[in-house]
Amino acid sequence: MARPRAENPRTKITNIRLTEEERIAFEVAAASKGYKNISEYIRFLHNNLNYEAVSKQKDQKIDLCDYPAKMLRSFLSTKHGEILWGDSRSYLFNKAKPSSVDLIMTSPPFGLVRKKSYGNEDADEYCEWFRPFAEGFRTVLKDSGSLVIDIGGAWKPGQPTRSLYHFKLLIMLVEEYGFHLCQEHYWWNPSKLPTPAEWVNVRRVRVKDAVNTVWWLAKTPFPKANNKRILQPYSKSMEHLLKNGYTAKLRPSGHDISEKFNKDNGGSVPPNLLAIANTESNGRYQDHCRAENIAIHPARFPAQLPEYFIRFLTDPGDLVVDPFGGSCVTGVVAENLRRRWVCCELSEEYLLGARARFVPTVQSLPKERGNPYGISSPCARPVNEKDVPLFADGGASRPPELRRKAGKSEIPDKSALRIPA
Ligand SMILES: C[S@@+](CC[C@H](N)C(=O)[O-])C[C@H]1O[C@@H](n2cnc3c(N)ncnc32)[C@H](O)[C@@H]1O
Repeated sequence: MARPRAENPRTKITNIRLTEEERIAFEVAAASKGYKNISEYIRFLHNNLNYEAVSKQKDQKIDLCDYPAKMLRSFLSTKHGEILWGDSRSYLFNKAKPSSVDLIMTSPPFGLVRKKSYGNEDADEYCEWFRPFAEGFRTVLKDSGSLVIDIGGAWKPGQPTRSLYHFKLLIMLVEEYGFHLCQEHYWWNPSKLPTPAEWVNVRRVRVKDAVNTVWWLAKTPFPKANNKRILQPYSKSMEHLLKNGYTAKLRPSGHDISEKFNKDNGGSVPPNLLAIANTESNGRYQDHCRAENIAIHPARFPAQLPEYFIRFLTDPGDLVVDPFGGSCVTGVVAENLRRRWVCCELSEEYLLGARARFVPTVQSLPKERGNPYGISSPCARPVNEKDVPLFADGGASRPPELRRKAGKSEIPDKSALRIPA
């Protein structure tokens, strides 16, 4: 994967100011195209990006020969699985057997979309980029298998409105590729910071964005599954009820709660809201990356997310694939649960970090599940509405006190309002 040496020495340094989120998005996008760093990626954008060409891609058929299996290198093998270094399209088109995969558990790059507008046009572009993967997923999945895609939403730069790209992706997968939406899940990260700060903290016209959508899809309406594999502990009130008995009666909703509710099933069925904090900042993976001066993957998901779907939808010995492997969280979870697995990743640097999850021993899954999270009821604070008027301009300008501080005109330059996608 080594690129040819640059003809001209690249010795000049230019500072580019990025927010933390922009930097992360750039890094992920750079890696997704096989570039080692942001400079290389910006050079690529500058030299090559031609949106007309991108839109013409829509009409082009995927050439399977562009993705030969020999472009994949085995990076690491374990008892149950393997990390492949290279483009996952090579695996999907030319290495995996058709109808061989029980679960595709993945989180694709979100940062590929053009930063300029991130509107519907770009949502279309994201879908176009995704098409070959959709095609490949359909080919390699078994009829009994599932496709689970964790995908974060995005804000349009400069305005407090959302891109539709992840919804468009879902619609494309269902309407054009014939996948069935088994159930959408929402991964709530309780420790997520209140972002985007401009709209949430400064202008106060939006609330904290704290969930990722997780699309659970399948080739048939009936992929294998069993929710008894993923039960959660009973609530205190349910425990009390199981201990002390329950008098069957009608609920206010009119539902007849029968005596069957007295039965202890070992736990309750979880909702499709998965509360998992993504706070791990120390641990074997991070220690290894810091010690070896390797970039820590900026967009990892927590192990409990793949664990939930792997337990729910696969059996030991089944094949789990993550085509956007990153730091191979899916792989290490599958290894622990004795599923066969394959993770593909373009960036060698991320894989050098991922190694620490398997070498010298396989990192075990966290035993401690932490306390369950609760969500406080909103509107719990008494408010005199006269003292808290609505922002009639919908947040088009900053609050006066901040305007004065910043010495800005009433309606600031739009470019100053850029919100990271
Ligand atoms: C959102 S990250 C996945 C992070 C991962 N779930 C984890 O927890 O570490 C997406 C990854 O997909 C990789 N990627 C993008 N396009 C790819 C491709 N065609 N083949 C393989 N990997 C790809 C990127 O390099 C990036 O690391």
